[in-house]
Amino acid sequence: HPHLKMDVHSGLMLEGVPLNAIADAVGTPCWVIGGNTLRSRMHRMQSAMQQAGLDVAIHYAVKANDHLAILSLLRAEGFGADIVSGGELARAIKAGMPAERIVFSGVGKTDAELEQAIGLGVGQINVESAEELDVISAIAQKLGRTATITLRVNPDVDAKTHAKITTGLAANKFGIPFHDAASLYAHAASLPGIRAVGFSTHIGSQILSTAPYRAAYARIAELVQTVRAAGQTVEVIDCGGGLGISYRNEPEGQPEALAGAIKAELGHLNVRLAIEPGRWPIGPAGVLLGSVILHKARGNEAPFLVLDTAMNDLLRPSMYDAWHGIVPLSAHEAALPAAHAHVVGPVCESGDTFARDRLLPPMQRGSRIAILDTGAYGAVMSSTYNSRPLAAEVLVDNGTWQVIRSRQTVEELWQDEIVPSHLAGTV
Ligand code: LLP
Repeated sequence: HPHLKMDVHSGLMLEGVPLNAIADAVGTPCWVIGGNTLRSRMHRMQSAMQQAGLDVAIHYAVKANDHLAILSLLRAEGFGADIVSGGELARAIKAGMPAERIVFSGVGKTDAELEQAIGLGVGQINVESAEELDVISAIAQKLGRTATITLRVNPDVDAKTHAKITTGLAANKFGIPFHDAASLYAHAASLPGIRAVGFSTHIGSQILSTAPYRAAYARIAELVQTVRAAGQTVEVIDCGGGLGISYRNEPEGQPEALAGAIKAELGHLNVRLAIEPGRWPIGPAGVLLGSVILHKARGNEAPFLVLDTAMNDLLRPSMYDAWHGIVPLSAHEAALPAAHAHVVGPVCESGDTFARDRLLPPMQRGSRIAILDTGAYGAVMSSTYNSRPLAAEVLVDNGTWQVIRSRQTVEELWQDEIVPSHLAGTV
């Protein structure tokens, strides 16, 4: 984490900004994202593709972190967006993303979402079923438009990642079965309102080796050859997202290696390429700040460190048994001898556990920690479970910081709730 440094006096700093200063001003829990880190990781992906001699458009997967400031930052850098709902589409447009730079993925798109997307003229819709293709054709005709589509192919390849984030196996709900794709592509060419330009695939997330990518892309290449031999044109291949990061000590996925896999399998096909990264660019750029509420001793057993942040903020450890680094903000504390502790939140579920048997220096009520690599699939997966308001969010950029989402108030928790008049008492 080149953007995180421990300073003897100021403690942990992110892009040169002391995280304690942010926590002093904003309180905890608080998400902090490093804008320059995000930019440089996106540009590293871009140059990896360019250096491999590939023509690759980068569509950031909005689901990883959909904050308008993040989308605006990426729009300003010239990147596009991969969206999966009408809400994400509206956010991308609100952030000024040109519609032609937006790709619409997702296994179930409603009529309203498709009308919105086709009406706005999104660059591409990745179609996930024969049924959906017919719906898109009908909606495009109704609107007097032509929808540019790819078929998302399920290559039946094991991405060797967590079962809950594997998407490219035949058993998964995603994409069109490989063996149906060629005939459906031919059918697509005959449908009114549809311009079929190629294929897309996405086999899963947090992928750390290139072998699954190569296997998937080899199948796509085979498909391209088949449909071209049948006289169809293929102009675009969307290679999906999924490149993994280092949460613990596993070597992180390398954009250069991904570029190599794309080049080896698809480089000769003379198509425009695209990728949809979410986690890789933004995951390591973010931290979640929390404070210790209690150090709960248990005799000879490892104590519980109870934090003021919980599974409602960061769901990944509960949901995927994910490992996230946890470091003290104080340089003084960080230098003390470490011992095992279980790090938990205050939510009333045993699954509200961030780490078990983690080596940490002694900490006490008020000590602060940063949970690392939480820029992706962090704030976006938050809830208000246990009536815990959504945490504040901060963007560090060019050496200064700014609140980009104020902490939700308790009143805001119920502002949309309606108490029927016969039940109204003091409300
Ligand atoms: N494209 C499509 C069609 C996707 O479904 C996804 C992620 C991406 C791109 C971006 O994948 P990435 O580059 O971020 O791996 N909440 C889970 C991750 C779910 C990923 C879902 N799809 C987690 O916290 O691990």
